[in-house]
Amino acid sequence: MAVLVAYASKHGSTEEIASFVADRLTSRGLEVACAEASEAVVDGADAAVILSGVYAGRWLGPATLFIREHADELRSMPLWLISSGPVGEDPPPVEELVHIGDLPEQLGAVEHWVVAGRIDADLLGFAERALVRALKVEVGDYRDWDEISACADAIADHLRS
Ligand SMILES: Cc1cc2nc3c(=O)[nH]c(=O)nc-3n(C[C@H](O)[C@H](O)[C@H](O)COP(=O)(O)O)c2cc1C
Repeated sequence: MAVLVAYASKHGSTEEIASFVADRLTSRGLEVACAEASEAVVDGADAAVILSGVYAGRWLGPATLFIREHADELRSMPLWLISSGPVGEDPPPVEELVHIGDLPEQLGAVEHWVVAGRIDADLLGFAERALVRALKVEVGDYRDWDEISACADAIADHLRS
């Protein structure tokens, strides 16, 4: 069973999550290719996991472009979507933070998970830093690796059942 893990990441946090998920799936005996969305190849994949960092409520361009270009193939295979966004100890509700509409339903995704992300102020550009400061966003690494492991295990369980 060949699994494509495709990701879009502006500042590297989602890339690390994708790599972690890919390693976990590999350790469960799946054949995994992990690639940035603009370089990902769908041909030969039996299942796919697509991840994106969330900015101003939306997925990053390479992830949405990848989905637009490969929607038919993705619809024909087991598919999981992972949005990585919320930061802070007590972030606003997901509905206020992630606006990807009915994309999971359109693609027939098995699940769409929203997992916490990371903001490293040193990696931000000038405008991003100003925005984060103005919105009083709590910077830091809020990724929950136990939760991400559980997502990967749910994918592996599904594919190996
Ligand atoms: C300028 C800016 C805007 C953001 N907007 C959102 C948002 O609308 N919703 C959300 O859940 N997270 C938002 N985030 C948090 C990011 O999604 C989070 O930091 C994520 O881990 C970034 O992934 P990346 O490092 O792979 O790019 C924003 C972060 C920045 C710096």
